[in-house]
Amino acid sequence: MFSLAKLALLAITSLLLGGCGPVNGGPERASDYSGEIRLPSPWYLGQESLEAVLARRFSGRNFSDRTLPLAKLAQTLWAAQGMAVHATTGATRTAPSAGATYPLEVYVVAGNIDGLAAGIYRYRQERHTLVPVLAGEYRDKLADIALGQDFISRAAACIILTADYGRTTGRYGTRGNRYVYMEIGHVTQNIHLQAEAIQLASVAVGAFHDERLKALLETEYEPLMIVPVGYPK
Ligand SMILES: Cc1cc2nc3c(=O)[nH]c(=O)nc-3n(C[C@H](O)[C@H](O)[C@H](O)COP(=O)(O)O)c2cc1C
Repeated sequence: MFSLAKLALLAITSLLLGGCGPVNGGPERASDYSGEIRLPSPWYLGQESLEAVLARRFSGRNFSDRTLPLAKLAQTLWAAQGMAVHATTGATRTAPSAGATYPLEVYVVAGNIDGLAAGIYRYRQERHTLVPVLAGEYRDKLADIALGQDFISRAAACIILTADYGRTTGRYGTRGNRYVYMEIGHVTQNIHLQAEAIQLASVAVGAFHDERLKALLETEYEPLMIVPVGYPK
């Protein structure tokens, strides 16, 4: 069942992007990919060395109100959990996962992105697409959920990392919980370094109300990290 907000978001994104049907085959369930938005392809050659980016990284909270191109948001999402193609092992992800159990799901609270309506989306890494969850401006609400950290309202978008612990504890028992936390660290640092490499600010935000964030995202997964991204002032 779609809420009115979902339908509105579908209509807006269709207008902005000319719509985008399922790519690379059909949906898992009929409703899964409705209004799916194909993201600009990631690029694999940056302008700076990894070392230069590491040497100047810091947590950036001072966001400008400059609109972020969709390609830059797409690039940070790819860095978070996108598909990588290893020469010998084949398809994998941009970050390691214990036993290749891949417990993480990535959401976006978008506010000031060129070519993307304000709203909440889920990233589908295997298709490099965004699936609309809710239409509307939710950055202020997210800042409130994150204990009033108001820089969140000024970030162009916030990437939210959530986990389905069961995928990893199913194989490793309770030890799987710590593996999930480790993966959050890998993915968060990927986002930071990619953001820095494309002249964006980002910061890890671990302080927020779990249940309120889960309700906002309309998700069954456990939110573990918010990473606001945007141009620095
Ligand atoms: C797990 C974790 C949670 C964090 N949570 C927050 C947070 O809720 N709010 C915030 O402003 N910074 C948060 N930070 C960022 C740290 O404050 C920051 O990394 C630290 O002050 C060191 O500064 P630097 O990253 O610029 O070197 C968090 C960092 C980590 C690793």
